[in-house]
Amino acid sequence: MKQGFFCARKCVVCNMRYVSLMVLIIFFCCSGQNEKSLEKENRVRGMVVSAHPEASAVGYAILEQGGNAYDAAVAVQFALAVVYPRAGNIAGGGFAVFRLNSGKTGTLDFREKAPIQAHRNMYLDQDSSVIEGLSSFGSLSVGVPGTVDGMLQLHKKYGVLPFEMAIQPAIDLAAYGFALTKKEADKLNQYQDEFLRANNFDFPFLNSSGWAEGDSIRLPMLAKTLERIKDHGRGGFYAGETAKNIIDAMHDVGIITPEDLSNYQSVWREPIIGSYKDFKVVAMSPPSSGGIALMQLLQGSQSFDFKRMGHNTVESIHVMAELERRVYADRATYLGDPDFNPVPTDMLLDSAYIANRNARISLEKTTPSDQIREGKVDVIESVETTHFSIVDKQNNAIAITTTLNGNFGSKVFVEKGGFFLNNEMDDFSVKPGVPNQYGLVGAEMNSIQSGKRMLSSMTPTILEKNGELYMVLGTPGGSTIITSVYQTILNVVEHGMTLQQAIDSKKVHHQWQPDAITYERGAIDSAARNELIRMGHELREVQFIGRVDAVLMNNNGSLEGGADPRGDDAAVGF
Ligand code: DON
Repeated sequence: MKQGFFCARKCVVCNMRYVSLMVLIIFFCCSGQNEKSLEKENRVRGMVVSAHPEASAVGYAILEQGGNAYDAAVAVQFALAVVYPRAGNIAGGGFAVFRLNSGKTGTLDFREKAPIQAHRNMYLDQDSSVIEGLSSFGSLSVGVPGTVDGMLQLHKKYGVLPFEMAIQPAIDLAAYGFALTKKEADKLNQYQDEFLRANNFDFPFLNSSGWAEGDSIRLPMLAKTLERIKDHGRGGFYAGETAKNIIDAMHDVGIITPEDLSNYQSVWREPIIGSYKDFKVVAMSPPSSGGIALMQLLQGSQSFDFKRMGHNTVESIHVMAELERRVYADRATYLGDPDFNPVPTDMLLDSAYIANRNARISLEKTTPSDQIREGKVDVIESVETTHFSIVDKQNNAIAITTTLNGNFGSKVFVEKGGFFLNNEMDDFSVKPGVPNQYGLVGAEMNSIQSGKRMLSSMTPTILEKNGELYMVLGTPGGSTIITSVYQTILNVVEHGMTLQQAIDSKKVHHQWQPDAITYERGAIDSAARNELIRMGHELREVQFIGRVDAVLMNNNGSLEGGADPRGDDAAVGF
């Protein structure tokens, strides 16, 4: 269980030369081997769970220095942009769902936008066929980044420490270097060819002899970019030198202009709020589909006795798949950027609508997806984004899911800026009915329009129980995000698992199209497999589904961090 205390107060914020040592210490602490030496008395109660031990340590150090969950979130976001370059980012976007200790809840949408010059047919050839790869690789796949504005807005409204303190750890990590984990070294090696294909210059992530665990990477250009953000706020990214660097990096076919960058604004939005049994659920509103889809799934689940059915039994997998195929069909049809077309949120969350939609679920056999709505697509591919969850000593909470979309985004590296650009344009429906890289199909609501936000599945979520903070969670995983969050909640609430068990347990997934249950290796035994096939399901095995990072507040007020063992994720705090 990767959970524990942050043992060394020194260094994370003030001297990043100790970073590698810190990683060892954190792993040691988090693996629970050193529990006797963990002194709680002088420690600040709080929990930070993220995809990378360095980033979690940075967040907890900020809490120890008197920062709140929002200062820590800003610090973690920037730290991930350094140590977790495949998904951590400054040139991507994301969503934050938060709950203040007063009980006030809200969300911040810092999702990327289509550039001004974007138009609905930009990825189609003369025959209106989709030009493969154009929306997911290279300069034309880049959406106008939202992360830096989002972090500045979040900090301005809710942070208590100076912004400089929140961004400094990332600057130090970039300037002094950080050590690669085995998984990150492998991931960088896997993408070397694509890095070379997208860029014609040398940059710090290239290594012809291959990266190995423990290798150190320094990103001096990124340190300078982060310094500019520290000194000039928005102007350090959306204008001046950094803006020029971004536009230079897309000199070939990119369409993002200085005006696109200077216009970008993140948006405070009302959350989707619903209930599941005794729990209040606070989740992300459109342009993420996550909140509406999660609420539809949870509401639909209230008509079934999951506790009796048991975890990952034939019956429970079948019912989840049937609920999910209906929800994802709605997602494809009705969801998109609410600033462009009204989203029928009330209708989609209406209990009579949901009950009616699920009334024809048979416990004996499947409802083929093409009877729900037409469409044919391929399998789900890569899963890279990142999520972190933070609770501070006052129980302020925040869940942030942030992404470049694919691993290392568009693969376009800003040479003089030291960072990758996103490939978020692929989340638009590039042509109605044609699936994106996650196999998701979309319709008019998610068509490309100048200045529009692309539909997302990101599902940062907070649960309350009896009016108190209960759970903070989220995950990467493209289309599987929504169902991974859903199952994590069911695992705790219905199947009586601890938070860590709920995260560790194998996940299953259905997304309407393709008409198949995707399951994580080991999730379904062969007898259940045969029975599901007999009922009419097609089954597809994948190695991993989800990478949930979460915090749960126990009845006695103690915080439990749950870090996903599928990655290097780490919970730091207590
Ligand atoms: O916003 C979305 O739904 C996607 N861009 C998220 C991508 C993702 O989760 C990739 N995998 N982990």
